[in-house]
Formats: sequence, C-alpha cells, structure tokens
Amino acid sequence: MGSTPNGIKIVGLAPELNHSFYGRDIISVGQFSRPDLTYIMGVADEMRSVVRRVGATDLLKGHILANLFYEPSTRTSSSFIAAMERLGGSVIPIHGVQYSSVSKGESLPDTIRTLECYADVIVLRHPEVGASEVAARYATKPIISAGDGVGEHPTQGLLDLYTIYHELGTLDGLHVAMVGDLKHGRTVHSLARLLRLYDARLTFVSPEILRLPEDVKRELAAAGRIVTETDKVEDVIAAADVIYVTRVQKERFADLDEYEAVKDYYVITPKIMARAKEHMVLMHPLPRVGEIHADVDNDPRAAYFRQMENGMYIRMALLAAVLGKA
Ligand code: NCD
Repeated sequence: MGSTPNGIKIVGLAPELNHSFYGRDIISVGQFSRPDLTYIMGVADEMRSVVRRVGATDLLKGHILANLFYEPSTRTSSSFIAAMERLGGSVIPIHGVQYSSVSKGESLPDTIRTLECYADVIVLRHPEVGASEVAARYATKPIISAGDGVGEHPTQGLLDLYTIYHELGTLDGLHVAMVGDLKHGRTVHSLARLLRLYDARLTFVSPEILRLPEDVKRELAAAGRIVTETDKVEDVIAAADVIYVTRVQKERFADLDEYEAVKDYYVITPKIMARAKEHMVLMHPLPRVGEIHADVDNDPRAAYFRQMENGMYIRMALLAAVLGKA
C-alpha cells in the first residue's frame, strides 16, 4: 500500500483483493469476466476519490511506463501519462515514432524488447489489428493496448462501461444505441463486446457501408443479446438509455469519395436531444468532428467530458492492477 504526498496511507484501494490482473496483458475486452469488470470499476472509484482528495499517491513510485504511440492520440496518451504520474510513477513518452528508431526500420518486436529493458509496463497504440498481441508475445512485461487499428480499444471500452455505470447507476436492463462509424470504430467494438456480459439491448445506427462487423454481432447474438440495426437515429432516440456517437474515421477509408458520402450522416443537435429520455446519457469517445453539435454540450445528459475524465481513473486502476499494487 502507498501513501499520499501528505503522508496519508492509501488503504483498501479495491473492494476486495484480486490478484488475477498482476502481470497480465490487456489486449482485448474478451479477456474480462463480469467480476473482473466490477473489480476494476471499484478500483477506479477509489482512484477518483484519491485524486479528488489529495491529487496523487506514491503507489507506483519507482515504476516506469513506456507510452508507445504509432498513431495520433490526445486523450488516451495524456490520460495514461497523467494516470502513471498521479500514482507516483514515471513515463517514457514515445509519441512521434518518426523520431525513434522505428523510422530506421526497427521492427515492433525489437522496439518492444528494447522498451521493456527500461520500463515495467508498455502501453501500445498501433495502426495494425493484432499488433498488441504480437507485442505481448515478445514482451515479458505487461502490454496494455491503447487501440490497434480497426480492431479493439480495450481501455476505452472499460472507461465507456464505467461511464455508463457512473452516470446511470446500473449496467443491466439498458437500451444502448451506438451511432456512426461502427465498422472502423474500435471503441465501438470493445464496448459492444463488453455489453455482451450485461442484460443490454443494443441498436446499431449507421449507414449501410459502416455497419458493425459480423463477428461482433455474432458474439452478441451468442450471448443472447437483442440486436437491431437501422440507419436512422430517429428510430431509437426516444427509447435509448445510452446514445454512443462516433466519428466517421476518415483515415480508415481507401476511397475518399466514400468518406465524403457518409461523413455528415449524423449530427446530434438540441432538437434531436429534445426527443430523448430525460434520464439518459449521451456519450462520445472523442475526438468529434461535427457529429455532436456544440450547442448540446451544456445538456446535463451530455457526458463526453466526464467520460474522458473517467479514462484517467480507469487507467490508474489498470496500471495499479497489472503491476500488482491494486
Ligand atoms: C478513439 C480512438 O482512437 O479509437 N479515440 C480515443 O481513443 N478516445 C476514437 C476515434 O479516434 O474516433
């Protein structure tokens, strides 16, 4: 157990001890059970209260995180840095891989083997699906995926789940609608997969060419979830407890004309929100590029800024857990 800079002992960081995360990679949300998720969300709650009370703790003092990003990031990279530093650890930030030996042609396995000589845990964002799994095969230290191409974004999925729980007080019996680029949106893939563990009804709203991948749909069906697809937000706006909006991911399109055809498909406005439930939550992993109008930001149901704050608490919880300190 650590103590805060003011000498306050941090005790009972989690509702109960759970050693199953120690030394583990975080690659896909498929690896979590419901008790795992309850545990991590409980630790995140504790992290929130530590940060609110005293700002930081020395729980991970002497530990080093390598933050390796091969794709752009604002929230994920900075929240991992903030998470590690608020736990008293330090960070090797590699954000412009063009300035690292990657630009000399170094392979991912070699870069990983290098960083694990210096760091205790490696966070990796990479444009290729499966890259974090490859990294984990070579690493002896825990690898935490910060998103691999159009595959998964497990820590975002966790923070999204945590946000729903925090905002609505439950994860069961909810009608969750996901809107936008469901084909390329890795955050959607991770959150949808997590929701298979809960009694959720899911509606996927997208243009035809941006539908949710079949394998994710199959997983949900196998878990007995009711899944509906539509291309109209109007079909679900009045019934949804959660509306999770995503950006159309321009960088994933081979044909930019296709992108142009769908880029402004959805814009959530105050007029649309007027038809939503009074007690519901509007989410977005961010960055947004127009799919939620700025006039919606002051709506109390708009949770996207609270959602990104939650990311830091979830990442604090995960770092502490994989380093055996939660
Ligand atoms: C997302 C990502 O990188 O997948 N952003 C994030 O991590 N919060 C969503 C996106 O880029 O649209």
